[in-house]
Amino acid sequence: MQLVTSTKKMQQLSLLLRRKGKKISFVPTMGALHKGHLSLVKKAKRLGDFVVASIFVNPAQFGPKEDYKKYPRDLRKDKELLQQAGCDLIFAPRVEDIYPEGYLTYVNIDELSNKLEGASRPGHFKGVCTIVAKLFNIVQPDFAIFGQKDAQQAIIIQKMTEDLNFPVRIIVCPTVREKDGLACSSRNSYLNTEERDQAKILYQSLKLGQKMIKAGEKNPLKIIKKIRELINNQKLAKIDYIALTDTQTLEPVRKIKGELLLSLAVKFGKTRLIDNLKICV
Ligand code: PAF
Repeated sequence: MQLVTSTKKMQQLSLLLRRKGKKISFVPTMGALHKGHLSLVKKAKRLGDFVVASIFVNPAQFGPKEDYKKYPRDLRKDKELLQQAGCDLIFAPRVEDIYPEGYLTYVNIDELSNKLEGASRPGHFKGVCTIVAKLFNIVQPDFAIFGQKDAQQAIIIQKMTEDLNFPVRIIVCPTVREKDGLACSSRNSYLNTEERDQAKILYQSLKLGQKMIKAGEKNPLKIIKKIRELINNQKLAKIDYIALTDTQTLEPVRKIKGELLLSLAVKFGKTRLIDNLKICV
């Protein structure tokens, strides 16, 4: 497995691979890898001939009060995990190569970026779209693989890819969960024992919502209320949002029908966790 840090070298390698007819599968990450990321690499291997994973903690997608500085970084461990998962190349650029002095260009999708996560994290998706667009240009992938855990991110990236005509197929893989249902996340490592224990309520509450919908409940407000009550039973939980939205527009639904996204963000202590379920009625 190769490690490339130079953007120019990465782009040259990718162009060479493409000229040889190889299909490049790409898994963008911020490192601190877990089972969820590794499932994306496995999918990438099945799709293409050459798997590139990027490791880059992107400063542009963190707010000024967010955890950019303390975001977990462990390149040595990530390398081992990626090697075992069968990754062919790690692209790990330096911040100053991605955003050199005088950098000015950003990609943004206002319409989708100001809702849900974006409402709580202004500028987050502008940072995500910008880095993913840059990575697409550098890595030149045929396939790019993302996790359903970041549902809004996947929807926005799909839209950006279509709107900007990137010749990339976006693949979204199911959320990987711990045994008790908590979605795997690099941020789970911030949780203390009590917070970690209470955080399992997130999946349980999503499942409750799903169960109500499957049982015929048509009023989104009733579902959100029940979920809110369940989460609030956990004394360390502080709800940011619970939403039932359309999967394309991310607008709240008035009536339960079609394909819906039930999503939430909840803080346990200082750690903000997100999760979601896609539900078809
Ligand atoms: O999902 C993530 O880890 C990041 O948002 C991504 C897509 C790697 C962009 O920095």
